[in-house]
Amino acid sequence: MCSFLVESCAWFLLSFCAVFNLDKGGIVKRRDFITRVAAAGGSTYAVMKALDLMGETASAQTGPLNLRPASDRSRVVILGAGLAGMTAAYELRKAGYRCTILEARSRPGGRCWTVRGGDQIVETTGTVQTVQFAKGEYFNPGPARIPQHHITIQYCRELGVPLQVFANLNYEQYYYNEGVPGGLAGQKVRARQAKADARGYVSELLAKAASQDRLDAQLTEDDKTRLVDFLRTYGGLDPDLFYRGNARRGYDAARQGASNNPGKINSPFSLSALINLGFAGYESFEQGYDQQMLMFQPIGGMDRIATTLAKKVGNINYGAAVTEIRKTQNGVRIVYTDQGSTKEIRADFCICTIPLSVLRTIPSDFSPDMQQAIAGVDYAVTGKSALQFNRRFWEEDENIMGGITSTNIGLGTIWYPSHNYLSQRGVVVGYYNFGAVAAEFGALSPDARVQRAIELGSRIHPQYRSHYDTGASLFWPQIPYNLGGWATYTTASRQQFYPRLNQPDGNIFLCGEHLSYLTGWMAGAFESARLVAQQINQRNG
Ligand code: ALA
Repeated sequence: MCSFLVESCAWFLLSFCAVFNLDKGGIVKRRDFITRVAAAGGSTYAVMKALDLMGETASAQTGPLNLRPASDRSRVVILGAGLAGMTAAYELRKAGYRCTILEARSRPGGRCWTVRGGDQIVETTGTVQTVQFAKGEYFNPGPARIPQHHITIQYCRELGVPLQVFANLNYEQYYYNEGVPGGLAGQKVRARQAKADARGYVSELLAKAASQDRLDAQLTEDDKTRLVDFLRTYGGLDPDLFYRGNARRGYDAARQGASNNPGKINSPFSLSALINLGFAGYESFEQGYDQQMLMFQPIGGMDRIATTLAKKVGNINYGAAVTEIRKTQNGVRIVYTDQGSTKEIRADFCICTIPLSVLRTIPSDFSPDMQQAIAGVDYAVTGKSALQFNRRFWEEDENIMGGITSTNIGLGTIWYPSHNYLSQRGVVVGYYNFGAVAAEFGALSPDARVQRAIELGSRIHPQYRSHYDTGASLFWPQIPYNLGGWATYTTASRQQFYPRLNQPDGNIFLCGEHLSYLTGWMAGAFESARLVAQQINQRNG
């Protein structure tokens, strides 16, 4: 590696070394660290565990919920047949509560939604898309991946919803950025190349620092030897502790094959190019606790969870849009419209799963501090599109069997399907973006969004233009009954409003992903529903 890099990346090394000082209580001796790494076999996972960088907190609750039988068959009105509302009904009914669910839409699931040919996507702006996907093709506009440690998996087991692996990371996927310095702008960088190179360079820097006694005087000769051995293997370094590329990054110039084809390993990218590419951001996302492989999806679409739960729960009043939420002396009174007429229902308890973004627009008797809390939480500004192609060029031409390409050209990410491999056509998520960029896309007509996804996406996959069939898009802040992606707390709003939102207001309990630390995940809805069911059960079980 050239001396420029050693110098200019000294900070990189320093921050890597700083990791050595992390431990629960403060400082961990380097010797302890090395011993732990060596004892653990030196895998990435083991290193993280040794450093205590990985949480052990899976879903808060486990196992089926066993509520005490309801003492007086209390009536519970549940607002919303999303996962939270249906789970609350499912659990409470098991204990003998009489539950009525009011759902404004004509389907269950809320954001747990799958769009297929013939379905409509309606937005508050008045646009209506009738989706034209071929039979068997689908798109999950909301939740689309499930971590193994979420309670969602437990409910899939209990409900009998079959799962398949969702490829949230594929070493074949790309990182594609434009306008970045360092030589990789506009280049499709395979994840495996970036990963192998980054790991190699960081190992090289650390191995050199360690072997030249520039790490820390406390390292014994034994420590040093073991650390350098570890790094040599970890980074794929040569005997002189240089990273010069290796087979981990693949044989993309000439592949290995029969007879005279040993394959040729391309030269690695430079460390400075990788740093400038923004690789660290992409890599750390993939390492997030909730984003680590393996991840899962229901076979046939995410709404399999919702429709199965709806069948178990039964008796959902569709087309019932809540217009008033009132407290009575001993319970609640809910006013709603049903096929144009106004109706009301009284109950002992109300579980309100309406997103805060919508709830703040509904006249109610919530106490002033609750009203303030309901108004004080922001929602994710996010959108997605789906593009059906008549040929799986990502599989056929580029060996990409599922996975997600990350890019800075406005699309956020491009998702390749993790099902129906090797079939003829497929639906790709053309963009999944956030914030200001998502708002820009959202302001376009649904068709213009799709055209933009094609225009930008064809810089990465030129095949887009010749194989595009049909597409759809949506912008969550404009989806009726959601008006946003999911609750996004700041530290301030978590402190100021979250505690109040978690307290019942009279006999009204708020419930949903927004009442959890798993915001933006179905698990948040499940966990919250279980908690509220338990709270009601404690009051009169
Ligand atoms: N849970 C959502 C995702 O993974 C936010 O994209």
